[in-house]
Amino acid sequence: MEKSPIEVSPHSPAAFSRPSKRRSIYLSVFGLFLYFCLTFHPISLDRILQQQTSRLESPPEKHFPFNKIKPSKQLVFYPCYSKYQCARLEVPLDWQKDSNNHDDKGPKAAVALIRLPAKVPVTDRRYGGPIYINPGGPGGSGVHALVSFGKDVQTIADSATPVTSTASFHDESLYFDVIGFDPRGVNNTTPSASCFPDDFTRQAWMLQAEAQGVLKNNDTFAMFYARSKAVADSCTTILSDDDGHLEGIGKHMNTPVVVRDMVEIAERFGEWRENEAKKMLEEVEEEDFPEKSPDQYSAADAYQKALWKKGREEILYWGFSYGTLLGATLSAMYPERVKRVVLDGVCDAEDYYEGKWLKNLQDTDLILEQFYTQCFEAGPEHCAITPPEHTYGPYGIQEVFESAFETLKQNPLPVPANGVHSADVITYSNLYTQLKNALYQPHSNFRHLAKVIHDISSGNGTALAALKQSAYHGICPSQDCQLEGPWSDSCHNPELGPYKAETSAAIHCSDSTIDYSKHHSAEFFWENWQTLRNQSSALGDYWAEITLACGNWAIRPAWPLNTTITAEKTAHPILWVGNSRDPVTPVRNARRMASLFPGSKVLEQNSGGHCSVSEPSFCTAEVIRAYFQRGHLPKDGLVCQPFSGPFDADGSVEARVRGLGEPEEGMYQALRGLREGRRGFDLPLGI
Ligand SMILES: *[C@@H]1O[C@H](CO)[C@@H](O)[C@H](O)[C@H]1NC(C)=O
Ligand SMILES: *[C@@H]1O[C@H](CO)[C@@H](O)[C@H](O)[C@H]1NC(C)=O
Ligand SMILES: *[C@@H]1O[C@H](CO)[C@@H](O)[C@H](O)[C@H]1NC(C)=O
Ligand SMILES: *[C@@H]1O[C@H](CO)[C@@H](O)[C@H](O)[C@H]1NC(C)=O
Ligand SMILES: *[C@@H]1O[C@H](CO)[C@@H](O)[C@H](O)[C@H]1NC(C)=O
Repeated sequence: MEKSPIEVSPHSPAAFSRPSKRRSIYLSVFGLFLYFCLTFHPISLDRILQQQTSRLESPPEKHFPFNKIKPSKQLVFYPCYSKYQCARLEVPLDWQKDSNNHDDKGPKAAVALIRLPAKVPVTDRRYGGPIYINPGGPGGSGVHALVSFGKDVQTIADSATPVTSTASFHDESLYFDVIGFDPRGVNNTTPSASCFPDDFTRQAWMLQAEAQGVLKNNDTFAMFYARSKAVADSCTTILSDDDGHLEGIGKHMNTPVVVRDMVEIAERFGEWRENEAKKMLEEVEEEDFPEKSPDQYSAADAYQKALWKKGREEILYWGFSYGTLLGATLSAMYPERVKRVVLDGVCDAEDYYEGKWLKNLQDTDLILEQFYTQCFEAGPEHCAITPPEHTYGPYGIQEVFESAFETLKQNPLPVPANGVHSADVITYSNLYTQLKNALYQPHSNFRHLAKVIHDISSGNGTALAALKQSAYHGICPSQDCQLEGPWSDSCHNPELGPYKAETSAAIHCSDSTIDYSKHHSAEFFWENWQTLRNQSSALGDYWAEITLACGNWAIRPAWPLNTTITAEKTAHPILWVGNSRDPVTPVRNARRMASLFPGSKVLEQNSGGHCSVSEPSFCTAEVIRAYFQRGHLPKDGLVCQPFSGPFDADGSVEARVRGLGEPEEGMYQALRGLREGRRGFDLPLGI
């Protein structure tokens, strides 16, 4: 079932041929980097050391070296991250070209994937197959997502009945695998797209963005525009280079390609399942199966069920945010493959593929209003903002809130170093970032936002400085990177390196039907920004960075979307999930998308936050479980309530959960794990 020895793949040639003179310059510059790292980030280094010790206290989940697996056309799983299985599936870099040539000699990509095995073997009658997940982005790592919250997805989708060794024939329970994969160009999937020579220079670029701050006026706009053009031009050159190890990946990382990869994964999984069943059934004796009677499940039945349905393998999927576009595209391109598709935090596919991003901020400012109200109702014990004497109700909260932003705009707040962080200056942009995070995740962040605003109002920026600096990585180029030179694979550490924001742009800019090499004037992006500002005073400035990242993007996909995102009939209806007040994927998108897939249903959750999982709800979890277990769809008009509000004290919530009893407590832990685990995947901008 698993092969333990890891084969070593052939040494990959260095990325770009470069004169050796250049290399020696880089090597000496490295000395400078090292100096910089040690001198200017002593506190970050301490933190890293601290993190390493705390990591040792809990059992270490050592980073799995995907590059040591030799990619293969058939799925071969290797044990990884203690209880998981990892694989690299070889696929043609260009599916179109491959289907024309049939010579199989073209360049390849290797998709990294990771499986959390089901609680029953593939030969068990209750085995439900794999649920594929995508955390969002675009550009989020599905491998990372699976390690962070795969087990929580499994708890929610699996039957509530604990697994017993023998299932009665009447037991209808299903138990699922969960599989995460890195999309094209992302993280452990190779070629891995990168427009920076190493993680260090990428972080330096991102720190410049942080210092420059968020988009707010024409001056900052000019800078954003210039920076985005610089990166887009770099990517256009680097990701088009098909001589180096990048193989011109830029043309092959748009959504339809990833959909085709998913179909390949599903097919190869079917093949693997059949082989696996064959091996297992050869090992077991017939009497391990219950006594044969017309009613009962025999080895022959198990084998029959495990057979590869070549060309017809169906797909189970749960996608969040951008993952809903991937799921909707899959459902439109391969409607016959849809067995279960849950799309949570729904994007409007038409708007996305037209590159507009204008169907996102419709409900955003409502959440801000709710923050004032909920904070006021929670009172000073749970919400740190104290309204001034002369004010009444939520308006008092709003006044303090707005004046904190105004004050920072005029007077950035100096913060001296302490035992945790170095000297810093808290700016309007730093607070704005906290606001953005709070709107995405009210449950995790509303109370924190209130505290930060309270602190800032009293001239204390300590907590925010600590938080800001905790995002910095202690990065110095590795020894291998020094030897192999900048741009080599060893200069990017998938585990420690910062998120590669340009992979996000590489996906959505090439999905967009706009040809940015022709429409890249400052006015074009400026107009889009003004429209977004008019849509939302809270997030318009932030959202404009997305389209701006396409600056001068000149790579066009080899395989553009050639269908509309709609299907008269999917094999099973889709389940769309939307929050009543989602800051970036309003529930109206779910309704509109549902109308394009007749028979599909919308579940609304009466909460704020991005994706249902941002505010745990037992009701939503039950609907999703019933869908995966039996294919049931919710009643029309069902609105689920969240279990608790953003300002509820942790203690009281936990007491309520304990009062619910055993299985519910497990479910709550899973919902909380999913909420915390998915938090890191919301489109981090900053290029
Ligand atoms: C500033 O805020 C931090 C964190 O909330 C707190 O620990 C510290 O005591 C505060 N400093 C002052 C001077 O109030
Ligand atoms: C890439 O995947 C690894 C797991 O293989 C994970 O630890 C890391 O955080 C991921 N990196 C990014 C930038 O997503
Ligand atoms: C701001 O910049 C845009 C785009 O460059 C330009 O069209 C507009 O006139 C400028 N506005 C002001 C007030 O300078
Ligand atoms: C945005 O709103 C302002 C003020 O209401 C209006 O003058 C302007 O035309 C609007 N711009 C866009 C692009 O919608
Ligand atoms: C889209 O492309 C695929 C793959 O080449 C092809 O099989 C299909 O017929 C195309 N569909 C349309 C509507 O052109």
